[in-house]
Amino acid sequence: MNKIVIINGPNLNLLGVRETSVYGDRDFQSYFETLRSRYPAVDLMYFQSNHEGAIIDKIHEVGFSVAGIVLNAGAYTHTSLAIADAIAAVTAPVVEVHISNVYARESFRHHSYLAKNCRGVICGFGLDGYRLALESLMVQ
Ligand code: DQA
Repeated sequence: MNKIVIINGPNLNLLGVRETSVYGDRDFQSYFETLRSRYPAVDLMYFQSNHEGAIIDKIHEVGFSVAGIVLNAGAYTHTSLAIADAIAAVTAPVVEVHISNVYARESFRHHSYLAKNCRGVICGFGLDGYRLALESLMVQ
């Protein structure tokens, strides 16, 4: 079982365009292709949605069969008990990722409803955080 799914939440479809001083100027699709070629042995999949329920549906769909989920739930991190419950419900380990260092930003970004149900949290390393999360899932 070498399937790992990256799930991005709201507004992360605008990476490369959105607040580039915070999130950088690279679009996710091109970064994802780089990741894919770097780890050819991993069956890497990508899903993005701006909708809370769609993210929950995807966690349910893959969460009993994949080796791990890399999840950047965007602002839902700070609001969503429902995504927290979905993470708790599935068997696959979930690593929470944030591109920016949320602890260096507004205080409402300092709390995550998801973190306690995740294997770990990576934040502040830019897009490289997804690679670090992937590596952490590969060694476990
Ligand atoms: C983010 C941080 C969140 O606070 C924010 O709402 C995002 C992106 C990050 O990747 O740094 O949308 O998850």
